[in-house]
Amino acid sequence: MSCYDEFPEYYDLIYNRFQQSDTFLKLTQYSFNRDERLLDLCCGTGEVTAHLLKKGFWNITCMDAELGMLSVARKKLEKYDLEFTCASMCEFSADNEFDGIMVRQAINYLLDEDRLVDGLRHMYLALRPYGRLVFNAPNHWPEKEYKDRMHECTQDNLQVIVHETNTLDGKILTHKQRCIIHDMEKETIVRLTDENTFAMYTREEFSHALDAAGFSKHHYYGAGLCHYTKESPSMYFLATK
Ligand SMILES: C[S@@+](CC[C@H](N)C(=O)[O-])C[C@H]1O[C@@H](n2cnc3c(N)ncnc32)[C@H](O)[C@@H]1O
Repeated sequence: MSCYDEFPEYYDLIYNRFQQSDTFLKLTQYSFNRDERLLDLCCGTGEVTAHLLKKGFWNITCMDAELGMLSVARKKLEKYDLEFTCASMCEFSADNEFDGIMVRQAINYLLDEDRLVDGLRHMYLALRPYGRLVFNAPNHWPEKEYKDRMHECTQDNLQVIVHETNTLDGKILTHKQRCIIHDMEKETIVRLTDENTFAMYTREEFSHALDAAGFSKHHYYGAGLCHYTKESPSMYFLATK
């Protein structure tokens, strides 16, 4: 059961901790100009787009494979004139349409190296000449351990406690979040389990895949857009067509 298709209305609450870092938002802002045509791919509930709209960007298409996530995004961004499209990042059809594509917290849903290259190739083809792709990913290395964690978050009248477990099998990580959601106004408790699997890639594997997809050059950064090191918790890529 995944939050994306079963309970998207709780996404911003349950995934709040992943939305706190401003590194990805800074990289998108630095990489694109305000009037460029952008695609927020795997947009989820539209948090990246919401940030860019506040910064003066306006020409953005939001795309996600899940209608429920898109409908939360549409509601959140209803005062803006944006396009919303339901499509998969490995199957969408666009040809030389965008100056920029951003994929936050989702590239690892391309579940093996062939699909990673295929997905990146789709993005490459959707970009105009010299168009840029920005994405982030956890920084993976073969002996890395993924620990279990507890998190808490409160948003308006809702409070959540999340027990996160991570199980790595080869390159596939199963990420489970057992959530207890307390509605402090209605005095109700809801228990939900969100489970997703994704593939973990090293920095080198992303670099090879970008080259294989045809990108002419790319740069990568560590957390805070600092110089990448092997211990960086996350990595940020900027690739040019
Ligand atoms: C962790 S969320 C990130 C959402 C958003 N980018 C953000 O940073 O807030 C991952 C999103 O990727 C979407 N997704 C997963 N696989 C996808 C695919 N193959 N094509 C398009 N969207 C996909 C999910 O529906 C979900 O909305």
